[in-house]
Amino acid sequence: MARIIGGIGTTHVPSIGKAIAEKKQNDPYWKPFFSGFNAVHKWLAHEQPDVAVVFSNDHGLNFFLDKLPTFAVGAANEYRNEDEGWGIPVSKTAKGDAALSWHLIEGLVNDGFDITMCQEMLVDHAVTIPLNLLWPRGDWPAIVPVTINTVQHPLPSIARCLELGRAVGRAIMSYQEDVKVLMVGTGGLSHQLDGTRAGFINKDFDTLCMDQLSGDPEVLTRYTIPTLVELAGAQGVEFLNWMAMRGALTGTVSELHRNYHIPISNTAAATLLLENRPRAQRKAA
Ligand code: DHB
Ligand code: FE
Repeated sequence: MARIIGGIGTTHVPSIGKAIAEKKQNDPYWKPFFSGFNAVHKWLAHEQPDVAVVFSNDHGLNFFLDKLPTFAVGAANEYRNEDEGWGIPVSKTAKGDAALSWHLIEGLVNDGFDITMCQEMLVDHAVTIPLNLLWPRGDWPAIVPVTINTVQHPLPSIARCLELGRAVGRAIMSYQEDVKVLMVGTGGLSHQLDGTRAGFINKDFDTLCMDQLSGDPEVLTRYTIPTLVELAGAQGVEFLNWMAMRGALTGTVSELHRNYHIPISNTAAATLLLENRPRAQRKAA
C-alpha cells in the first residue's frame, strides 16, 4: 500500500537557481534562506520518499495564455526542462512514475476533476528549483507533476484546490504499490512582480496561511481569489499550490519545521515541512 509521509511547501524563485550554480549558499544574502533547508534535508534523508507529487503552476513553458488548463497532470516517464530565459542553467531531467500518474488521473476523474492529462510535459523553475532545494545532491525521487492555473483569471478557488489535493490523497491511498509519497507545493508566499504594487509582501498574511495549514486549512477557504490577490499579491496566489499539497495529507498533520525569509528577489521565501501520520485505527468492538 502507498503511504503519504508528509508535505513540503517551498518557494520557487528562479534566481535561486543562479545562486546554486554560483555556489552562493553561504553568502550573507542567501545563507538565511538556504540554511532553512537543513532540517528538511535531515527529515528527507530519514524518510526516503520514492515519489514526489509536485503541485506547481506552469509559467508558460507548456501552456500559454491561449490554452491554459485549470488542472493538468503529467503521465510521463521523464520530464525535461528547457531554457526559460531567467539566466539559469537548464536543469537535468526529472524521472517520472507513469503508473502512479495514471492511477492518480483515474482517481481524479472518478472524483469529478476533469483534468488535462499530459503524456508529454516539460517542467519549469516551479518544479526544478524546489527539487534542487530539497535534494541538492541531485538524488531526486520520481515525480508526478500537477499544474494549477495561478496565471490567467478565472483561477480555481482556494476551496477547489484543497479539494483537488484531497482527491489526490484519496487516489494515492488506494494505490496498491508499496511506495512512500511526498507532497510538494511550490511558489509563494506573498509576492507581486508587476504593476504599481510590484514588490508587495504581506508577512502577517503569510504567517496566518502557514499557521492554518497545520491548524485548520478549511478556514482559508473563506478568502475569494480577488481577496487573495489583495492580501498576497498578484503572484502570491501561487499559495493555491500549497493548499493542494495540504489537502493531499489525509492523516494527522503536524508542522515539523518552518523558515520564513524576506525577501528573496521580490518574494517572501517560505519553507514549511508538514508530517502526515496515519490516523489511529478505531479498535474493533
Ligand atoms: C519570482 C517569483 C516567482 O514566483 C516566479 O515564478 C518568478 C520570479 C521572483 O520573485 O523573482
Ligand atoms: Fe512563480
